[in-house]
Amino acid sequence: MNDYFDLLPHASHDLICTLQRENEKKLQSAKKGILAYRLPFESVSHLKASSLDLESDVVTIGRREDLSKEEHALVYNVMRGFMPWRKGPYNVFGIDINAEWRSNRKWDRVLPQLPDLEDKIVADVGSSNGYYMFRMLPHKPRAVIGFEPYIHHYFTFRTLNSFAGLANLHMELLGVEHLSLYQDSFDVVFLMGILYHRISPLESLKEVRKSMKQGGTLIVESQSIPGEEPVALFPASCYAKVPGTYFVPTAACLKNWMIRAGFTDVEIFCSHPMSNKEQRKTEWMVFESYDDFVDPDNPSLTVEGYPAPLRVFLKGTAR
Ligand SMILES: C[S@@+](CC[C@H](N)C(=O)[O-])C[C@H]1O[C@@H](n2cnc3c(N)ncnc32)[C@H](O)[C@@H]1O
Repeated sequence: MNDYFDLLPHASHDLICTLQRENEKKLQSAKKGILAYRLPFESVSHLKASSLDLESDVVTIGRREDLSKEEHALVYNVMRGFMPWRKGPYNVFGIDINAEWRSNRKWDRVLPQLPDLEDKIVADVGSSNGYYMFRMLPHKPRAVIGFEPYIHHYFTFRTLNSFAGLANLHMELLGVEHLSLYQDSFDVVFLMGILYHRISPLESLKEVRKSMKQGGTLIVESQSIPGEEPVALFPASCYAKVPGTYFVPTAACLKNWMIRAGFTDVEIFCSHPMSNKEQRKTEWMVFESYDDFVDPDNPSLTVEGYPAPLRVFLKGTAR
């Protein structure tokens, strides 16, 4: 579990180990909510993929021919049990998993600004099922550590990576609030889709800054509202039907947060409206999606009447 600790000499190893032990105890418990994910993971984790394609839009792990008919049926059921699939697309032993988000589009927007990942220690904060971690691998990082506190996503990743067998991808059942235990550790941090869910986005950015080596690169992606002023929308209860959304900044506001949290050379490199082409209901995510979150008569507004979200991408250097 701690096989990457040697790479992080300044991290608080003892405190991280304590959290890891607590998490391990939780994961080994017989609670229904844990077993629902742990048992499926354990039932297929001996199966190995003969090939990988991590360079294309669809993260492809293994081929149909790698498995017997019975094994394939088992994997199909396990994959269905991991629904709803939020991030993807994936193809797992020939099973096409069309996730709610076409995450390849976000990755394509990051790619032109991607820092050199070769031999770097990378963190993906809020890594979900690891889609971007898999896409980072062809860029030859030394290690990628995903931080993901939700057991559903954690076990989805563990299952996918048990098939893929990539020893330099790790996932911790921890959140952005634990990053300050990883002092001076990361060369590159991805913080995508996180800040608007934080009650104190500035504190989160400061925690991220503590985890980074001086001169390291932070890539931030966030929902945002249109406008030139450095202001943030604070919804009364929900934004686009999501109660856990707090501050939705303009790009200029987010840039100021990053500067004041300890980043320099902060640059806004992409901004685009969200759409139902990128986030939608599929056979692998059958609940409400983007179309249900915006006003059907005026898609420039959310159902609550707030400006509909843009997505913005910023890059900064740890000062
Ligand atoms: C909107 S999704 C973004 C996923 C991915 N980074 C992306 O950009 O597509 C937010 C992710 O953060 C995870 N998350 C929730 N609480 C978190 C926390 N305290 N720290 C880090 N991640 C968290 C969620 O489980 C989810 O996977």
